[in-house]
Amino acid sequence: MRTRVIKMKALLVFACILQLSLTLDNGLGRTPQMGWNSWNHFHCSINAQLVMETADAMASNGLKAAGYQYVNIDDCWQVARFPNKTIQPDPKNFPDMKQLIDHVHSQGLKFGLYSDAGYYTCAHRPASLGYEDIDAATYAGWSVDYLKYDNCNTDNTKPEVRYPVMRDALNKTGRPIFFSLCEWGQDDPATWAPKVGNSWRTTGDIGDNWNSMYSRATSNDKWWKYAGPGGWNDPDMLEVGNGGMSHNEYVVHFSLWCLMKAPLLIGCDIRNMSKDTLDILTNSEVIAVNQDPLGVQGHRVNMTSDGAEVWAGPLSDKSVAVILLNSGSKTQNVTAHFSDIEMSGTASVRDLWAHADQGTATDSITKSVDSHSAVMLVLKPQ
Ligand code: GLA
Repeated sequence: MRTRVIKMKALLVFACILQLSLTLDNGLGRTPQMGWNSWNHFHCSINAQLVMETADAMASNGLKAAGYQYVNIDDCWQVARFPNKTIQPDPKNFPDMKQLIDHVHSQGLKFGLYSDAGYYTCAHRPASLGYEDIDAATYAGWSVDYLKYDNCNTDNTKPEVRYPVMRDALNKTGRPIFFSLCEWGQDDPATWAPKVGNSWRTTGDIGDNWNSMYSRATSNDKWWKYAGPGGWNDPDMLEVGNGGMSHNEYVVHFSLWCLMKAPLLIGCDIRNMSKDTLDILTNSEVIAVNQDPLGVQGHRVNMTSDGAEVWAGPLSDKSVAVILLNSGSKTQNVTAHFSDIEMSGTASVRDLWAHADQGTATDSITKSVDSHSAVMLVLKPQ
């Protein structure tokens, strides 16, 4: 009898350990991550000075106050491995990683790094395949808060096999480190990554133009049911402020990313941003949709052949966030029928870009929307 009880207890402990090692469970990403990443604007031209200046700008120019938190370095910070196999940051551009991270932390911000689940990163720097435990321990030793993990130059095994190895290595450090998967949607990560990471890319790299941005949004849309607190679909980082799109197109970009509960990772030079860019990125009403605790990804509910599109998603206070989007080439009316957006009767209307209450609407709402533009509303049942 006693040995049976002991055996049962041992089995229970084993089951718990197995359970722990099969899930991420780091408590992070209850709402989509907000921050900055070096890649979209700077690519490999990065150094500690730039990152410190970026952190200082984020802390003082209104971005931190709006909720942006992570300062993340992408590819090209690493050059080699030391004889003891630990990773070596570029001695010229990143002479003292710990000091840089301490500086970011001293601004009340968090710090992120980049590596890759292959032999080399996409820019051919040393990556983490086979070095997961050593690298995770190094990151934790530096007090890193976030890891973006790419998928170049691998051993051709599936990402489902390689990414959990780094998840477990990060878990073992005991430091909560946000784990951002970047396998470009190749193996339908939405179907398996919620157990592995806090977010997963659903698309290839974004470019700073309408077609690229719009196609990231529509590809990402397919996976809307899989997102939720702790794990988010990632249609890639923001291009707002990089100059390749019009003001209205950037408003569409930011509106869609917020409604889709996408990570809000700024990709421009925030040390030198225009007021217009800052105003888009700090629109607190639009950000509130992204950060709503319900965490349901809004999705496209209707589209005409002329590109009159309705995107919508529920919020925790029973209201519905709606984007009336015109992806067509001419100004046109866009109508959201309440029956399409899980709403009925009469609702109050709040315009999130005009920052204005606009009375009530019953059964549907129609707005005239310019080409490549959007109106974003919150409809609250009366
Ligand atoms: C891949 C990723 C990008 C960026 C680069 C860096 O292309 O998808 O987001 O990290 O690698 O080399």
